[in-house]
Amino acid sequence: MRKHIAVIPGDGIGPDIVREAVEVLEKVASVYGHEFDFEYLLAGGASIDEYGVPLTDDTLERAKSADSVLLGAVGGPKWDGLEGKMRPEKALLSLRSGLGMFCNLRPALMYGALKEASPLKADIIGDGLDIMIVRELTGGIYFGEKTLAADSSWASDLMKYSTFEIERIARKAFEAARKRRGKVTSVDKANVLETSRLWRKTVTRVAKDYPDVELNHMYVDNASMQLVRNPGQFDVIVTENMFGDILSDEASMITGSIGMLSSASLGSGKCGMYEPIHGSAPDIAGKDIANPIATILSSALMLRYSFDLDKEARAIEDATLGVINDGWRTFDIAQKGENYVGTAEMGRLIRERIV
Ligand code: IPM
Ligand code: MN
Repeated sequence: MRKHIAVIPGDGIGPDIVREAVEVLEKVASVYGHEFDFEYLLAGGASIDEYGVPLTDDTLERAKSADSVLLGAVGGPKWDGLEGKMRPEKALLSLRSGLGMFCNLRPALMYGALKEASPLKADIIGDGLDIMIVRELTGGIYFGEKTLAADSSWASDLMKYSTFEIERIARKAFEAARKRRGKVTSVDKANVLETSRLWRKTVTRVAKDYPDVELNHMYVDNASMQLVRNPGQFDVIVTENMFGDILSDEASMITGSIGMLSSASLGSGKCGMYEPIHGSAPDIAGKDIANPIATILSSALMLRYSFDLDKEARAIEDATLGVINDGWRTFDIAQKGENYVGTAEMGRLIRERIV
């Protein structure tokens, strides 16, 4: 198989972790006889420094014409003072919306060997944790009209959802649940927000097409509490953009480390954008410390969702699991006193197992 992959390392640790993921993809290509070519693009702070804007039209066009996109992370203190539409994060939002990636899959999977790293007590974790967060990614308060009064005495962000937007993300959640444990929890704030009432009504209607999937509804405040009280009750969580942003950070932490969690952003076609859910961690950039696993696992999701290369995706996941089970750690997932390896070494250990 021949595929053209746009690679956007971004800022901070982005280049460190993306390098390892690209090398993993290259290893997969050579072992399984595929041909991946990589086109490197700038976005975020790196693009601001080079072109004066977080994302150029040319970069967006190039990303659009790729078979999929691998992204590191964007942002850093260097660009923190910039106004909203000039910030590095804007590149991410423009890529998501420009590529039509309305569906963000964030698997929160706990590795048995890393149970110790979870801040939750062992009896709460039980047999482990495997939650799929399906986050709506191109609507809601992130993309509604933004206003700042001329005298800065007030500001507003509009939260808007159409039934069309809710319906298509709901379908993704039900379809994901079918391949898992058959349960969807839809998270909203329907006791307060009109958008949430429409959300609940629409999800309930869509559920009729999936009688084999169990649906329940939960307010977001309760959901954030339930995640630490009894995370095992969740299979698929579907929610709007900002709630999904917040809940996925929470879910990631209970699995032990935000450095382990991958994500896939999908639209209506095969192209996807794959990135770790963590940020650019500028304080450890370029020091060969960052955990590349989230990005490596994101590249596995690319193989599965965009290229239908399930066997190859599993090879990456199994290799990663094997390395973890053998006791290898990066500093973020190492327990006190445990030895750990650097970014490049972790990448090499994973590649070595793909044979
Ligand atoms: C994420 C990030 C982004 C988001 C930021 C960087 C814009 O936190 O991917 O979760 O809020 O979506
Ligand atoms: Mn986030």
